[in-house]
This record gives sequence, C-alpha cells and structure tokens, in this order.
Amino acid sequence: MSGNLATVSYIGAIILFILSLGGLSNPETSRRGNLYGMIGMTIAVLATVFGPRVTAAGIPWIIGSMVVGGAIGLYAAKVVKMTQMPELVALMHSLVGLAACLVGFASYIDTSAPLAGAEKTIHELEIYIGILIGAVTFSGSLIAFGKLNGKIGGSPLLLPARHWLNLIGLLVVIWFGREFISANSISDGMTPLFVMTVIALLFGIHMVMAIGGADMPVVVSMLNSYSGWAAAATGFMLSNDLLIVVGALVGSSGAILSYIMCQAMNRNFISVIAGGFGTGGGTPAPKADGTAEPAGEVNPVLALETAELLKDAKSVIIVPGYGMAVAQAQHTVFEITKLLREKGVNVRFGIHPVAGRMPGHMNVLLAEAKVPYDIVFEMDELNEDFPDTDVAMVIGANDIVNPAAQDDPASPIAGMPVLEVWKAKTSIVMKRSMASGYAGVDNPLFYKENNRMLFGDAKKMLDEVLVVLKT
Ligand code: TAP
Repeated sequence: MSGNLATVSYIGAIILFILSLGGLSNPETSRRGNLYGMIGMTIAVLATVFGPRVTAAGIPWIIGSMVVGGAIGLYAAKVVKMTQMPELVALMHSLVGLAACLVGFASYIDTSAPLAGAEKTIHELEIYIGILIGAVTFSGSLIAFGKLNGKIGGSPLLLPARHWLNLIGLLVVIWFGREFISANSISDGMTPLFVMTVIALLFGIHMVMAIGGADMPVVVSMLNSYSGWAAAATGFMLSNDLLIVVGALVGSSGAILSYIMCQAMNRNFISVIAGGFGTGGGTPAPKADGTAEPAGEVNPVLALETAELLKDAKSVIIVPGYGMAVAQAQHTVFEITKLLREKGVNVRFGIHPVAGRMPGHMNVLLAEAKVPYDIVFEMDELNEDFPDTDVAMVIGANDIVNPAAQDDPASPIAGMPVLEVWKAKTSIVMKRSMASGYAGVDNPLFYKENNRMLFGDAKKMLDEVLVVLKT
C-alpha cells in the first residue's frame, strides 16, 4: 500500500471514529455508532499492517500476533458475563497502558534510526511521558479491576501524608526525567527510566486504592481517559498520526465522561482524584447473614401483592440497578411493562447515571431487551414526577435510591443526586436481602412506611409477578 493511500485510509478511519463517538452518545444511534467504529478500526488496522512502514518480513509476525490476540479477545468476549463487563473494560484499559510501556522501552533501545540534537530530546521526552502515563494506567486499571470484581475491598486506603508521598513521587519523576534526557548512552538512560516506571506503577496503585467505593464511577471513566492519553503517547513514540488522533479522542471523551460522572455524583473531580471520598460515616448496613441489627422495621410483600399494586396503578416508574444485571431480569421487566401498558398503565423507566457498574449499563440492558427508548428517562427528567406516581418499582438498585444521600451529611454518598422513589405513593424494592449496595451503607428507604420489600432474586420474583399479571 502506498504512503498516500495509507494516509487517505487514516483520514477515513478518523472520520468514522468521530461519527462513532457521535453515534454512541444516544441509545437510538449507538448500534450505528458501534458499526462505524468497527469499520474505522478495520480500515486502520489494514492501512497500518499493509502500509509503507511495515516490511514484508514483519507481516507474518504481525498476523501471527493478531491471530493469538484476536483469539484471546474472542474467547473473553464469548465467556464474559454481562455483569463482568466493567471488569473486562478495566482489564482492557490496563493492556493499553502496558502496550504504551512496552512500546516506550522498545523505541528507546531501537537504534535502527539514530536521532540527534533536538529531535533526539523530543523523542526521549515522548518515551518518558509515554511510559509514565502507560504505567499509571496499567497499575491503576489493575487495581480498578480488583475493586470492581470485589477481590479488593471498596474502602479507600488512606496512607498517612499521602499527598506528600504523591508530591515527592512527582518531584523524583521530574528529577529522573532530567537524568534520562541528559544520559549519554542507552545503558545510562535505563536506570532513570526504570526508576520512573516503578514510581509510576506505585502511583497508579496508590491513586486508585485511595478512592472510596462510592466514587468508583469516576475512576472507571478517568482510567478510560488515561488509556486514551497512553495510546496518544504511543502514537507520538511511533510517529503514528492515527494513534495520536484516536488516543486524543478517547482521552478527551473519557475526560468529559469523568466530568459528567462527577456532576452526576455531585463530586469535585480534584477531591475524588486526591482520594478519601466515600470514606466513612453513614450507617453501616445490616449484613446479608443478618448478624447486624437492621435500623428499623420493614414491610415485606409477596409477588402476588406486588402484581396487585401494579395492576391498580395508573402510573409506574421502574428504577433498575445493578441487581437487575445480576439477575438478568431485563426481559421479564419488559414483558411486565408490555402487559401493564396494554392495560393502560403509564410505565416509564428512570435511569441514574451511575446505576450498575459502568456508564450506560442500564441503557445497554434495556436496549438488549428491546424496551422502547421513548419510555426510558434520565433521573433529572423523572425526579419531579414521583409524587404523582402510584408505584415506584426498584429492581436490584440500592445506592441510587438512597435518601441518606440527601438527609445524612456524614454519609459516603452525601450530596449524590438520587431517584426520589420514596415520594411515590408506594415504592417496592426488589432485592435478595437487607445487604447494602456498592457504597456499603444502609438504606433508610427500606424502613419507610410507604415502602414494601419484595425479597428474592429479581428474575425469579418478576417471573412470579408476570404469572399473576397474566391471570
Ligand atoms: P448497588 O447500590 O450496588 O445495589 C445493587 C443491589 O442489587 C444490591 O443491594 C443487591 O442486594 C441487589 N442485588 C444483587 N443481585 C441481585 C439479584 N440477583 N436479584 C435482586 N437483587 C439483587 O447498585 P445501584 O443502585 O445500581 O448503584 C450503583 C452503585 O455502584 C453506586 O454506588 C455506584 O457509585 C457504584 N458504581 C457504579 C459504577 C458505574 S460507572 N455505573 C462503577 C463502579 C461503581 P442483595 O444482595 O440484597 O440482593
């Protein structure tokens, strides 16, 4: 492939990636957005592999690696459960970081095209910064992976003088950066490069460990952004314009998403990154095994009574949460929705921006079940309607409907906007036990007089409700 054709292909791929991002911003156009992204990526890979910078001898190596990598990716995509998707995404981000580190070291020891003067300094700076971002992304994403799948606890690790530690780390990285740039040989430069990499890895671990469970949505989107900047840095090291542009697109869209997440949780971005948010306070939740005292009386109901309440309602708002994803209850939810709508009930869905474990988690599940987009609303669009709603049905959600966010300033989720389901005439919470949600705090909603608890697996309970509704 000629250089010109490769450049034109790159421009085509970039346009497709921009269209893809535009498409992904709305559930109705997201499938098209995905398609644009896939076509763009295919063009980008083909133009790179068969482009002028790859020699014929290198092609079998690249194809061999693609077959191995592709097979692993395909297998992972096939076996991963929908609830494990956020962990998989975190793991993917870590791979982008690792790739940036490996490319950085490889470019440094590559002597095939020696550079001199300013060009050499700029290239070394690219390597140093690229490895720095890559290492932070790599270790930070691995910790996020551990936190998301529960292998690492959600509570923040707050080392004494942690801000000082971070500052000292930064100063050491700058000092070794100077040593690296002024090194006279590759072997002299390796020591500062290694030291910086170790510090960056430790910083990534420390940064994510210090963030409280309640603030994980910001971490997920922030690491998404970092992985973009790591890819852009790789693009600079390899002088690949496409990688620079695509990395910048991912980096900036991830940064915008982090900002949106911060707004959705009423958090200050800098405070989240500095760590310690989502720390203490709040009433601890009773344990699932019932060893801790619950903070009040609850009103349990059965599927039969739930179905009766739904049948008698004129308006129903369904609030799905992480538990709906665990139970894979979205199809039954839609069956119930269809039945109620046929009976003239106004059924709508209220989606919290951080419901589930990844941005857009609930929208993906509802789209999969083919719930029409025009009955799915954002939290802000529906919150005022709860007082005029007969039944608010909470399916496997907890933190996003917790009134403590408004009433308890000491709560780890204090200030986070929530869906005000308790303002409906009756709220029904479907979950298996009195256990807490991701933030680990008790939910006073459960003890409210107008609230009913339907205990059990959401799919099983909804199946029972559906049977009654059909009779
Ligand atoms: P959570 O607060 O985690 O509550 C989910 C509830 O679902 C749990 O209390 C659990 O109670 C219940 N559940 C689990 N499996 C169930 C099943 N099979 N059937 C019925 N119920 C089931 O979820 P949420 O309300 O969606 O809030 C999201 C939380 O995750 C927030 O704290 C958010 O900050 C955090 N988070 C979000 C993200 C993103 S980007 N969205 C990323 C990381 C963290 P039982 O065990 O009693 O059933």
